[in-house]
Amino acid sequence: MKIFAYSVREDEVKYFEKLIAEGLDITYISDYPCLDNVELARGYDAVTIISNVLSKEMYEAWHAFGVKSIGTRSVGFDHMDTKLMKSLGMRGIHAVYSPNAVANYTIMLMLMACRKITFILDKSKVQDFALPGKIGKELSLCTVGIIGTGQIGETVIRHLSGFGCRILANSSHEKDSVKKYAEYVDLDTLYKECDIISLHIPGTSGNYHLINSDSIAKMKDDVILVNTARGMVVDSEALIEGLESGKIGFAALDTFEEEVGLYYKNLERNRIVNRTRSILQSFPNVILSPHMAFYTEQSTSDMVATTIRGLIELENEGSSLLEVSYE
Ligand code: COI
Repeated sequence: MKIFAYSVREDEVKYFEKLIAEGLDITYISDYPCLDNVELARGYDAVTIISNVLSKEMYEAWHAFGVKSIGTRSVGFDHMDTKLMKSLGMRGIHAVYSPNAVANYTIMLMLMACRKITFILDKSKVQDFALPGKIGKELSLCTVGIIGTGQIGETVIRHLSGFGCRILANSSHEKDSVKKYAEYVDLDTLYKECDIISLHIPGTSGNYHLINSDSIAKMKDDVILVNTARGMVVDSEALIEGLESGKIGFAALDTFEEEVGLYYKNLERNRIVNRTRSILQSFPNVILSPHMAFYTEQSTSDMVATTIRGLIELENEGSSLLEVSYE
């Protein structure tokens, strides 16, 4: 089986080289896939990408060149047009990786928000060591609401239990393993009772703008909102209004709705035209990190290995547990 890998970062190279040394036929380039380089995959059975947005023409071109499957080296596959793939007879694979990566980062954001640490460090740099405005909340005394109890949400809950907080959870698939540490409640109860609300649901159409002006209105005053899931789950306009009114005390965001196409490049010298980002960045009570929660040595290794494994399973066995759903 021949696999063509796009968007391969320097830190991924050693994992691809390891697979090549084991005998796999993989060619890789660092360029993102685009209409100018789709043809490079002619004659390959599969391509792998990473959170790249692909046009209809690109899927059609790969299909015409004989590419049967596409593997995204990410857990989420909301950037893939799986309906179109299905209609073309192409199949998709997504990665799985250590849930600790995003779970650790989420808890770090919760702590940073509770203790206003970005503000404290900024002030410390200019020798403002005064206490006013810097008082924090103890995470251990907070009620934390986790929306989504898949692998990542469950790991956040298990790790948070060590802090001693009260944990509420919401999911359409309740798990006994989660019930040891958290109480499942409906969304309205979670909104009403939680000091911190953290999102761990996928970017599906059903989750689009789950957090909107109505849901924000149901939340506690001064709530801390954490999003390490997908930007589209939160209506940016409603989020900004919630920050302006003071209803939202802190937003710790590793992702936001309008980030598509923005990240993983050095844009230091560019004029960025992204009003949502500019507005969010202007709040002292917002952390906006560039979709980094996944990024650890372990997850990078897992992302390469599991995506390639999934593509091989599809080719050799006709099925894989890592196959995407086509909706
Ligand atoms: C995922 O794996 O789904 C992520 O969010 C990380 C990806 C954007 C690189």
